[in-house]
Amino acid sequence: MAEEKFTKEETLAMRLRLIGQSCRLFYKEDPVKIVRARGQYLFDENGKRYLDCISNVQHVGHCHPTVTKAAAAQMDLLNINSRFLNDNIVLYAARLAATLPEKLCVFYFVNSGSEANDLALRLAQQYTQNQDVVVLDHAYHGHLMSLIDISPYKFRKLAGQKDWVHVAPLPDIYRGIYREDHPNPGQAYADTVKDLIEEIHRKGRKISAFFAESLPSVGGQILLPQGYSNKVAEYVRSAGGVFVADEVQTGFGRVGSHFWGFQLQGENFCPDIVTMGKPMGNGHPVACVATTAEIAEAFTANGVEYFNTFGGNPVSCAIGLAVLDVIEEEDLRGNALRVGEHLQVLLKKLQARHEVIGDVRVAGLFAGVELVTDRQKRTPATNLAALVVKRLKEEDRICMSTDGPWDNVLKFKPPMCFSVEDADLVVTCMDRILSDNKASHLKLENEDS
Ligand SMILES: Cc1ncc(COP(=O)(O)O)c(C=O)c1O
Repeated sequence: MAEEKFTKEETLAMRLRLIGQSCRLFYKEDPVKIVRARGQYLFDENGKRYLDCISNVQHVGHCHPTVTKAAAAQMDLLNINSRFLNDNIVLYAARLAATLPEKLCVFYFVNSGSEANDLALRLAQQYTQNQDVVVLDHAYHGHLMSLIDISPYKFRKLAGQKDWVHVAPLPDIYRGIYREDHPNPGQAYADTVKDLIEEIHRKGRKISAFFAESLPSVGGQILLPQGYSNKVAEYVRSAGGVFVADEVQTGFGRVGSHFWGFQLQGENFCPDIVTMGKPMGNGHPVACVATTAEIAEAFTANGVEYFNTFGGNPVSCAIGLAVLDVIEEEDLRGNALRVGEHLQVLLKKLQARHEVIGDVRVAGLFAGVELVTDRQKRTPATNLAALVVKRLKEEDRICMSTDGPWDNVLKFKPPMCFSVEDADLVVTCMDRILSDNKASHLKLENEDS
C-alpha cells in the first residue's frame, strides 16, 4: 500500500490553492485520489480498485515492470543529452523506422505531443517555404501557442482563427455534412479540402501543410472514411504542401489491425510527417517526429541547429524501447484487435436495446459511443453522457470520459492490456445505467399523461 502524505481533503485543498485552476481534475465535484496503479487498474487511498478506460498514455499498462526496470537501470547507468554519441537513440530510431513505411526514415526526439507538432509545423514551413495550414474542424494538436492557432477546439474559445489557418469540415459520417448514406464520403470530404485549397490560392496564399489526427479524438472518436487521406494527400501535395499525420493518440498499435492509425487508410497511403507522443513512454514524457529524408534535408539546410535538452536522452529511449518490447512480447496489438472486436459486438447489441445510442465507432481499443436524445435528429445527449460517466465511477468504479464537440461521446482509450472481461463488465454496467434512464423517462411520460 502506497503511503499517503495527506488525506484526500488536504490534497484537494492544497491543489485548489497551489495549482492553476485551468488545470482541471476529472470528476471535479468529487475527485478520485489515486495512489498506485497496475495494468488497467487504479487504486485509491482506501485501496479501492477502479477499472481505467481513460489512460491511453499508460499504453502497456500502468507501471509495467519491464518499463520501470528499464527506466531504473538506465537512470543508474547514464542520462545525458543527445549531443553525446550513445546507442539508445539510434537503436530506438531504428526500431521505430521498422514500424513505418520506408520513406519515413529520419527522426527527431522531443518531450511531448505539442513539441512534436510544433516541430512538424516548422519542418513543413521550412520545406515548402509556405506558411498556411489546413486543419480539421474541432481538431486539437497541442497546448503551445503555435498549436492553439491550428486547433479549432481551442482557438474558437480564445483569440480566434488566424489568417494563415484554414478549417476543413470534419469527415464525420454520422454527424457531418456527408453521412453514411453518401456513396463516397471519402472522396466528398477530400473535395472539401480541394475547394479550400483553391480558396486559399484565390487569396494569394499557399499551404505548407494539412494536419490531421489519424482518428480525430476530441472531434468525437471519429473514423475517417476510406479513401479520404490518399485523396487529400494528392490535393495537398499538388498544391506544394505536405501531409502531417498526428498519431499522438492513435499510434503504437491502438487500432489493433495496424501499428499506426494512418494505415487504416490503406497500404498505399503514407504521410510526409508523422508525430507521436502519449503512448511512447508509458507515462514518461517522450515524443517524436518522423519524416522523409527530403524534408529533413531542407530543415538542415537552414543552417540552424535543432537542440532539445531532454529529447532523445538515453533514459527516454530505454523506456521507449521497453514499451516496444512489451507491445511485441505480450501481443498487445493482437489484444487490441480481439478485445476491440468483442467490444464492438457488445456495443452494437447495446445500441439495438437503447435508442439513446446513436452510433458506435470502434477501431481496436479506440472506441466511441455517441449518445443522442433523438435518433432521427441526432440531438447530442450531453447530460446523459455526463450522468453515465458519473454513475460508472460512483457505482461501478469504472473511469470513463466523454469527448466530441457536444461532449456526448463516451470514449474508450484504455491501457492496451484491457481484457474481454473488462469489456463485458463496462458494457453490463452501461446497460444497467441506460436501462434506469429509460425507466425513469417512461415513468415521467406516464406521470405526464
Ligand atoms: C491529437 C493530439 N495531438 C497533440 C497533443 C498534445 O500532446 P501533449 O499534451 O503531450 O503536448 C494531444 C494531447 O492531448 C493530442 O490529443
